[in-house]
Amino acid sequence: MDPVHLFVPTFRVEEVLAEIRECLEKGWTGLGYKTVEIEEKWRAYSGLPHAHFLNSASSGLHLAVRLLKEDAAWQAGDEVITTPLTFVSTNHAILYEGLKPVFADVDEHLCLDPAAVEKAITPRTRAVVFVGMGGNPGRYGDILKICRERGLKLILDAAHMSGSWIGDRHAGHDADVSVFSFQAVKNLPTADSGMICFADRRLDEDVRKWSWMGINKDTYTRTLSGGTYKWMYDVEHVGFKYHGNSIMASMALVGLRYLEQDNAYRRRICEVYDRELAGSTRVERVPMARSCTPSRHLYQVLVDRRDETMVRLNERGIFPGVHYRDNTLYRMYAAADGTCPRARRASDRLISLPLHLRLTEGEAARVAQTLREIRS
Ligand SMILES: Cc1ncc(COP(=O)(O)O)c(C=O)c1O
Repeated sequence: MDPVHLFVPTFRVEEVLAEIRECLEKGWTGLGYKTVEIEEKWRAYSGLPHAHFLNSASSGLHLAVRLLKEDAAWQAGDEVITTPLTFVSTNHAILYEGLKPVFADVDEHLCLDPAAVEKAITPRTRAVVFVGMGGNPGRYGDILKICRERGLKLILDAAHMSGSWIGDRHAGHDADVSVFSFQAVKNLPTADSGMICFADRRLDEDVRKWSWMGINKDTYTRTLSGGTYKWMYDVEHVGFKYHGNSIMASMALVGLRYLEQDNAYRRRICEVYDRELAGSTRVERVPMARSCTPSRHLYQVLVDRRDETMVRLNERGIFPGVHYRDNTLYRMYAAADGTCPRARRASDRLISLPLHLRLTEGEAARVAQTLREIRS
């Protein structure tokens, strides 16, 4: 039996190469050209009003915090409520800006619990970062309501949410800013890239400068503009080199064509897992929020003796993953150690089952049956 891995990205190789060939033949691989096209296509697909293509979601999360902070003059030590159950990029973004991450616990969806968020609000709270775990919107609507009522900004870490629909709107349409990851194993895989989508047009204009060293006119626009003095630009901020490039955009353009189809296949695999694991008392499934069509980046379960279970799955050629360890277990965030018991319990028990486009329904059934056997 072939080994079954957590993630195996699928690339439409010929189509990707054709897009990249266009860049090479034109002699334009950097910022502009295909990056402009992927921004247009992403806006058209998602219905989000603004989109700026970046070199990663980690950069995007940093810029999200930076620009909201600049805009409303947040002070060092101001607080951002966040989840301990995430990839560390989410929380590093808060620290990069000298703000304080305040951890609130998760609910049964493994997303921020609205009651825990309410409890964590202080006079210094400025924003909440919500992570749509595995594409699951959890109780995002309640968190949005709290943010609107309490005058807090809402940052959606939508790293897993490319192609997640809440009702008939794409995830992020009502956040102050949402950040998507197109990293190598995400639902829309490139090698590394991402998209930042601000609600406010002004911030969308600003982020283009911040992602390109603070320069107020990019090289592509200057080249296209034809006229003289093309080298004349101003530098408005100490910005970053965070923008995306045309090679990554080429990959994303092809991925976007298939995103709906690919996510539908992921949902089919998840139905197999749901069916095969239904009724098991020893394998707890993470429930999906209602009224959504999720991207299904992950299929997560909780089991006792997780580490031993993982070893036994590995012995049978099955190589799942863990998303994530409670961030307060890391030295960086240890000051908040133990403040979120539900996240800690999940952190000790979580397994992400294999989920990708080359996994057959038969293989998914075998994974689920093997897991049940091991846990029986
Ligand atoms: C929840 C979450 N946020 C942010 C990121 C960062 O994304 P990127 O790798 O594009 O920087 C990831 C990537 O794994 C993630 O899972």
